[in-house]
Amino acid sequence: MAKNTAQRGGFGGKLTAILAAAGSAIGLGNIWRFPYITSEHGGGAFIFIYLGCILLLGLPLLIAEFAVGHNSKCNPIDAFSKIRKGWGWLGAMGLISVFLIMGYYFVISGWTLNYAIASATETIGDDFGGFFTSFTTATWMPLLFTYIFIIANHLIIVGGVQGGIERASKVLMPLLFAILIVLAVYSLWLPEGREALGEVFTPDFSKVTGKTFLDAMGQAFFTLSVGMGAMLIYGSYFKEGTKIAGTAISVVSLDTLVAIIAAVIIFSAGVQNESGMQLAFVAMPKVFSAMPAGNIWAMLFFLLLGLAALSSTISMHEAVTSYFVEKRGMSRNKGALIVTVGAMLLATVASLSLGAWSGFTVAGMNIFALLDNFTAIVMLPLLGILTSIFVGWIWRKEDMRAELTAQGSVDKATYPFVRFLLKWVCPVLVSTLFIFGIIDFIKSL
Ligand code: PFF
Repeated sequence: MAKNTAQRGGFGGKLTAILAAAGSAIGLGNIWRFPYITSEHGGGAFIFIYLGCILLLGLPLLIAEFAVGHNSKCNPIDAFSKIRKGWGWLGAMGLISVFLIMGYYFVISGWTLNYAIASATETIGDDFGGFFTSFTTATWMPLLFTYIFIIANHLIIVGGVQGGIERASKVLMPLLFAILIVLAVYSLWLPEGREALGEVFTPDFSKVTGKTFLDAMGQAFFTLSVGMGAMLIYGSYFKEGTKIAGTAISVVSLDTLVAIIAAVIIFSAGVQNESGMQLAFVAMPKVFSAMPAGNIWAMLFFLLLGLAALSSTISMHEAVTSYFVEKRGMSRNKGALIVTVGAMLLATVASLSLGAWSGFTVAGMNIFALLDNFTAIVMLPLLGILTSIFVGWIWRKEDMRAELTAQGSVDKATYPFVRFLLKWVCPVLVSTLFIFGIIDFIKSL
């Protein structure tokens, strides 16, 4: 059981709770990943399916995770076992997944720092692909930036829930929105930008395949940070009386808005057909370089990516730190230090796997790709299925209802709908897509 809950922190108010959780949700997933999978799968058609996944699967799972955290007020492992003895392993599975994600996510986050600096100082040159390859496959420089990013995380986490996470979110999120709006206004001011808007929303259903549904679901889970304890731990810091469903709806709306604006920005630059790392780190700098004051726009873009990554990684770090503090009875400083050192080690392996250690592969993938694929294809859907089963079938119906409706005072009308989604729609739909995903993946090997 929790050993160290006496000095538990919490968010000061409803708005800060929304900002912190939106900070976790809005990340590389929105700005870099969403635009290119949207374009891969036919623009508007994908967005349509994606919105379906967000509403039918992502939103109820986010509500479920907030509810479990808020109800039990403890770290992800104890949270599940407090509600039903013997279910702590589900929290542990989430924490292992989030730790694995940290391994590669921190590396990309570090790149954004280098790119922001290199853009500002105009040192990228004009061989954009060459710069990317030589930087990311080098040994020391990417590690240096990754470590700087991890240390920034560490400093925020040791500051505590209010003094660190809440304070950082209050600065990071408005800054992120400001930069996003500046970039979006600039894009829409260009004629290409207005065309792009049409392109983002015009559906091309001929590109829709089974994989479109899988990718839409994976993206919905990843972007909302569900299943991995990050949203659970933030839910545990919500004040008494916080409307769980209302908060989740605000987070989902902000997250979706940012993803769509990011798609408009990227589409207006005409680089949507570039996928993966190439999009953000090769195609975007190239486009910026052709613009007046391009280095400033490029710097702003990478700053945006870096800020979004920072507010997401602090939620990952906090989820794992809370385990060491509450379950292992460590001080916050010590717990955070263990996570920081662990993340540095894993990120080192991930970063080197792109260069010096690229010869080492598992099923044809380097460690970096392995961390990404294993978490996205196996862990995220599995956690989605198990979390919905837990909340829909294992949690006592009356207790879950009391939590979701704040003892019957709010959300009484939406409750039956949320319960139905968690009990039936999520387990059935996610399991189906999960099985197809695994088959598809095995075929691709
Ligand atoms: N939601 C983040 C993004 O879209 O980039 C990623 C993420 C954050 C995943 C926190 C998992 C997590 F626990």
